[in-house]
Amino acid sequence: MGKHKYHTYISVYIRKPTMSVTADTTKPDKETPVTGAINQDSLDQLFNTARTHNGWLDKPVDPDLLRAVWDLTKMGPTSANCSPARIVFVVSDGAKARLRPFLIDGNVDKTMAAPVTAIIGSDQKFHDRLGELFPHTDARSWFAGDEALITGTAFRNSTLQGAYFMLAARAMGLDCGPMSGFDNDAVDAAFFPDTDIKSNFLCNIGYGSGEDMFPRSPRLSFDDACSVV
Ligand SMILES: Cc1cc2nc3c(=O)[nH]c(=O)nc-3n(C[C@H](O)[C@H](O)[C@H](O)COP(=O)(O)O)c2cc1C
Repeated sequence: MGKHKYHTYISVYIRKPTMSVTADTTKPDKETPVTGAINQDSLDQLFNTARTHNGWLDKPVDPDLLRAVWDLTKMGPTSANCSPARIVFVVSDGAKARLRPFLIDGNVDKTMAAPVTAIIGSDQKFHDRLGELFPHTDARSWFAGDEALITGTAFRNSTLQGAYFMLAARAMGLDCGPMSGFDNDAVDAAFFPDTDIKSNFLCNIGYGSGEDMFPRSPRLSFDDACSVV
């Protein structure tokens, strides 16, 4: 293998995006070789060209794909491996009809059109599984009886898992449309009855049509949002 080919093989070049969006795509101006990074197409699929979708193709999502998305999602880190996220995939017409009245008006049509709506919830009794999930020590006792710690830990980590979920879905070729505009208590009663699971956010998934999409909004630059101390 020639020197150039070898260098290309082991390195990924962070390039300026070829797409024309107004957003700051957070890439360095200069070509910067980053050894070990995933390739540019994958970066674009996960971040730079991925959008929040509002229109959906009439194309079902293979149930095996939902399992594959979870099998990636579950590998993302959570504190003490507590893994509080619990997901209900709303697919059938009947289940969609049950969800509909709890959505704010602006979220109704797109959610009814999406092949799948994931309700991403958090189990407020996540610590009951820590004996199995974090067997090195008695981590359950850190949480039992401390409601503030339970609530904060469940929210923080289920939100992280929700983010892993969206990236996993994008990695599997699906599009996402996350939503927090819904009645959480009503959704909990309808979809998580007789459990300690509380809904966090909804995420439509499927194959985006590109319709009804806002222009890409700008993002904060590194200097606006970050500091190195
Ligand atoms: C947690 C969360 C909740 C959101 N809630 C809603 C919502 O209720 N309705 C809606 O139309 N968009 C909602 N959005 C979509 C955001 O406005 C959108 O992801 C953001 O503007 C970035 O768009 P882009 O991915 O196309 O760049 C939500 C996004 C997230 C991550």
